[in-house]
This record gives sequence, C-alpha cells and structure tokens, in this order.
Amino acid sequence: MLRYGVVVHGGVGSPAAWNDGCERAAEAAFRLLETGGHALDAVQAAAVILEDDGRYNAGSGSTLRLDGATIEMDASLMDAEGRIGVVAAVRGIKNPIRAAREVMNTPHVILSGDGAAAFARSRGVAEPHPGPGPRAQERFENVRRALGGRTFDGLAEAWRNFDLRAHWNFDVPYEKIFGHGDTIGAVALDREGRLAVANSTGGASPMLAGRIGDSPIVGSGFYAGPSAAVAGTGIGEEIIRRMLAREVHDAIAHGEEVAAACERAVARFPESVPVGVIAVSRRGRAAVHNRDMAWASKGKEE
Ligand code: GLY
Repeated sequence: MLRYGVVVHGGVGSPAAWNDGCERAAEAAFRLLETGGHALDAVQAAAVILEDDGRYNAGSGSTLRLDGATIEMDASLMDAEGRIGVVAAVRGIKNPIRAAREVMNTPHVILSGDGAAAFARSRGVAEPHPGPGPRAQERFENVRRALGGRTFDGLAEAWRNFDLRAHWNFDVPYEKIFGHGDTIGAVALDREGRLAVANSTGGASPMLAGRIGDSPIVGSGFYAGPSAAVAGTGIGEEIIRRMLAREVHDAIAHGEEVAAACERAVARFPESVPVGVIAVSRRGRAAVHNRDMAWASKGKEE
C-alpha cells in the first residue's frame, strides 16, 4: 500500500533525456507531502516547476498556434473532494496553473480567454509570459513545413483532409504562414489520504485560435475521485472522445490494479494516436504511454 506519493509527467512525446525536470518537480512535490502538505499544493508545486522549465509544452515552453505567434494555454486542478479550478485558452501569463488554483476559490469551475487573464491579474498571479521559446519555434517550423508541403508526416490523422485555408481564424493571412509535444501533469496522494491532480499545456499541434484540448476538461484530461487521481496526455480531441481520466479512475474504483487500468485505457487508442496516462491511488502508482514520455515518481510505502 502507498502511504503517500506523487507521479509527474512531461508530456507524451517528451524524451527520457528530460526526466531530470520531472524528477525535480517530483522531489519538490514529495517534500511537501513528507511535511504533511496537501496533495493539491504538491501537484501545483510540481506543475509550476514544469511550466517554468521551458522544455515542456506548458507555461514558458508552450506550443505556438498556426500563425507562429499566438500562445494559448490550458491548466486544471482537481481534488477528490470535487474542488475544481480550470483556465482555458488563456494568453500572456507565465503560470496558468496558479490562475487555475485561484479559480477554485470562486463559484466557477472554468474561466477562459481574456476573462481568465484579467482574473489572473486581479488575483496577483499574472506574471507575464516570456514569449515563445526555441522549442516552440522549432515545432512550429516543422508543422509549417508539413502543412505547406502537404506531406502531413507526423500530423494527426484528423488534419489530412482538413481544408485549413477555409477555416483560418487568425488576423495574419493564411498566405503569410506557410511535431508534436504535449501537456505536463502531476498526481498526488498525501498523508491524510487526499488525492489531487494538476495539468498544464500549450495545447497540441497544429491548432487554430481558440482550440481547447483535453487538459481543462474534467474526466478527459484529468480526474480526481475517491479512488484515484489521474492525468492524461496526448491528442486532446482523441482523449476527450474516450473520457480517458474518468475511465481509469472508475476501473481502479472497481478493483483493477493501477498499472493495469492505465494500460487498458491506453490500449483503447489507435496506434497512430500518441497518448499517456499517470495515476496514483492507495494501491499504487503508474505511468503508461505509447510513445517516449519523460516522467518521475516518488512515494513512501506502508
Ligand atoms: N493534450 C493536450 C492537448 O491536446 O491540448
């Protein structure tokens, strides 16, 4: 049995060479758990470290949208008491997870777009975003080459026959513009048996303006309930269709082992869809993924 512990991931598609960042995040979360901290504070601390790292697709490392300039981010937190805080498609702030935590203290569950950014400013959690990092620029160039050459190598199936020009929704003209990485996430169980999850992402790639993925959708990209806390990573549209996080939670609630529940859920996705999931419960912790994925875990067994 697990007494307390944490699992952290750096997004499906992130190389194992980036495990060091996840280990730092897991260490910080674990220190909080060891000293009696709340699972929510632990997952938030882990998420802030990964948002600030710059390599992962969240916060400072967020992916660019198809105009090569816009960054819109999603972030979410939930605990097993049913407290939820989410921001979606928020621009201009360095740590969306901090804004999501503040949403928990309102009568709302989700704030989006300009309203979310203004809310973050009013709560004093709107340190400015540093702008696109080198990895975001590189990923954008790869997408632009793939779309421009109509090769679609490495792009999701859904983009193959999609008429992007007809649906273009940026101010910059389509004519002027012509990979993948993902979300970060953390799940924790604290000494009091409280479970919590945090997610943060710059989205999948490619993306139109205003697109929202699974990371801020309860039951899809994240879920914390009486039996487990679960975070997903991968192509958001595919994860939303399958309600990944709730499925894993419910399988654990029905007695399935944590790793087996994660494996069965990931196996439900077609081979072409990159996906990963992390989960923690009193019965254990697991990280399962069908592509490379940086991750780390620390726990104290009974
Ligand atoms: N999993 C991140 C996204 O699709 O936005």
